[in-house]
Amino acid sequence: MGNVLISRRFDFSSSHRYYRDEWSEEENRRVFGLCALPNGHGHNYTLEVAVWGAPDPTTGMVINLVDLQAAVEVVLEQFDHKHLNLDTPYFADRIPTSENLAAVLWDLIGEELVGATLNRLRLYETDDLYVEYFGESA
Ligand code: NI
Repeated sequence: MGNVLISRRFDFSSSHRYYRDEWSEEENRRVFGLCALPNGHGHNYTLEVAVWGAPDPTTGMVINLVDLQAAVEVVLEQFDHKHLNLDTPYFADRIPTSENLAAVLWDLIGEELVGATLNRLRLYETDDLYVEYFGESA
């Protein structure tokens, strides 16, 4: 049997601020809009985690969903109901856009998913806006 892509959705909520110190207030507002507000603002994110592989002949599973859920939840605990700039260590030197957040989540979830191959992360910032990340090599 060939490979199968299995995907599961997770929800979390975080706030963020997009801001470059070396830019003026006006420039930040022009480039980043509402995300540059002094206290930032929040989003209800949806993350789809897709794992790729051949189903195990004994279990019929690409990955045990219990293991997938545990791996992702341990990562998302760091972000859920947190301010990405202030409460996590990942955005001291990069703007917490969905693009950058997806890359951070990829690395952290990849470290947790022992023996499984992460294929894609799709991160929804709103219902009609998402980014997809396939890892550094893609
Ligand atoms: Ni925003």
